[in-house]
Amino acid sequence: MVNAEKFISQSVTEIQKAAGNEKVVMALSGGVDSSVCAAIAARAIAENLIPIYIDTGLMRRGETERIRTLFGNIHLQIVDAGDEFLEALTGITDPEAKRKAIGERFIRVFEREAKKQGAKCLLQGTIYPDRIESEGGIKSHHNVGGMPLHMEFTKVIEPIRDLYKDEVREVAGALGLPKEIQHRMPFPGPGLAVRILGEVTKEKVAIVREANGIVEDELVETYRPWQCFAALLGLGTGVKGDNRIHGWIVAIRAVNSRDGMTADPLNIPFDDLVRIGSRITAEIPQVARVVYDITAKPPATIEYE
Ligand code: XMP
Repeated sequence: MVNAEKFISQSVTEIQKAAGNEKVVMALSGGVDSSVCAAIAARAIAENLIPIYIDTGLMRRGETERIRTLFGNIHLQIVDAGDEFLEALTGITDPEAKRKAIGERFIRVFEREAKKQGAKCLLQGTIYPDRIESEGGIKSHHNVGGMPLHMEFTKVIEPIRDLYKDEVREVAGALGLPKEIQHRMPFPGPGLAVRILGEVTKEKVAIVREANGIVEDELVETYRPWQCFAALLGLGTGVKGDNRIHGWIVAIRAVNSRDGMTADPLNIPFDDLVRIGSRITAEIPQVARVVYDITAKPPATIEYE
């Protein structure tokens, strides 16, 4: 990208041309991609932009409250769809089937809400690596694989389709978005579901959300990694008090990367890892074991599914 200011003014013009006087809906997740799109589109078409935040029940700890605070001043619709998503995921263990179920549910909910708004135009925060990975068939990507199949949008606008993540962050800075958004770690569209091996249940989501919150508390400020999170691997044996128990195994994942296409594990001092592990087992009684993932991408992906 040559220049963030120039990119912004070109995008504003592009959105104005594409949207005309029509209402435009978009899914706002609160990540840097959709936030940048929302900020540019708000400059372009003001109140004709209707961002919709869907709480899938698979979001990080405190996320919905955070979104409400950050974007309360624009015309934001918040939709609580947690039960619907859990229901759609019941009994599904295959990773791709999970992604598909979430993607489809997301579209259904989004379609329903967009219809209520009477919008014919859709804005999406798809970035370049999303397109590459989806076109290459590596996985079904939420942003792209989930394009509205049944909805009659007259137009789809993707203002940041040619940008890499670091370029999106540059644009976020130029737009004056809060630092918290500009430097926010990527979070996958399917949310905590891809950090749970096997079937997604309410209990597993609650455990992984809590563990993820602890990992973020401990690592984000200190190490500023590309991404760090917790994943739930399965059940194993542990000892709590005098009893052998069946407890959950949590993996800590922390990586550095430029664009998410390759990644290296973070070199975290052992004492820090032990402290985080102790916090997780102490604060979440159902967890019996914590491991640190030392795999690069490739061969592993960043997420677990
Ligand atoms: P993987 O796990 O494939 O992830 O190495 C690469 C980067 O993409 C994020 N990711 C997603 N982002 N929708 C998204 O918007 C998705 O379906 C999705 N899956 C993975 C992941 O968090 C990492 O930053």
